[in-house]
Amino acid sequence: MRFDVITLFPELIETYCSSSIIGRAQKQDLIAVNPINPRDFTSDKHRTVDDTPYGGGAGMVLMCDPIFQAVESVERQENSELIMLTPQGEIYNHETAKELSKKDQLILICGHYEGFDERIREGLKPREISIGDYVLTGGELGALAIIDSVTRLLPGTLGKDESAIHDSFFSGLLEHPHYTRPPEYREMKVPDVLLSGNHKEIDKYRRKQSIKRTYERRSDLFKIFEKSGLSKEDKIILKELGYLQEK
Ligand code: ADE
Repeated sequence: MRFDVITLFPELIETYCSSSIIGRAQKQDLIAVNPINPRDFTSDKHRTVDDTPYGGGAGMVLMCDPIFQAVESVERQENSELIMLTPQGEIYNHETAKELSKKDQLILICGHYEGFDERIREGLKPREISIGDYVLTGGELGALAIIDSVTRLLPGTLGKDESAIHDSFFSGLLEHPHYTRPPEYREMKVPDVLLSGNHKEIDKYRRKQSIKRTYERRSDLFKIFEKSGLSKEDKIILKELGYLQEK
């Protein structure tokens, strides 16, 4: 999987992507991250990439030509997607991450300043993605959120102990709580069942905690889970939790 990131701040992308699991994935050639700076496609002394908006108003607008040229400099693979990071885009989530992880190449356009010249949208027709209903100073955090969440879904990226299967959202439920040594800390105890060595009971406890957390924190996800064709075991757990009325 290749990520080409159009950004005025390539060092932000490089720094993040050289650490931890993403850094390791790069070293293992599972992914390649290639930042491209639109300033490299300017011809004036100041390497200008933005200008004041026509019609007046605050802030600066990213100009067409450096962005078009930066995008056009990327060698497009067949199975690729062009994405613009913008607060006006569709909201990013786990489903989108799964979908994007099937691509061979993502080209991510990061904005900065007030916004993009509208003809960048019109001419390049990128898919527009937002990472949440708030405005960032630039698209880099969005691009990194995509690179990170997509990379960890690629086979071979996570060690077997880090498997994505148990992640929150993978199964449509939030993840169960985790504990490690010591068994008691400041009078807070690890639940006995986790120390019992009884794996059937441990699995049941974790499933129950997952369901409970989802019910308490994310009623939107819980509603989808409830309608998803519950297993016999899940129905028993729901009854125990009092979330399912006995008929
Ligand atoms: N650029 C500025 N705000 C953003 C957001 N919320 N998501 C993606 N890109 C952005």
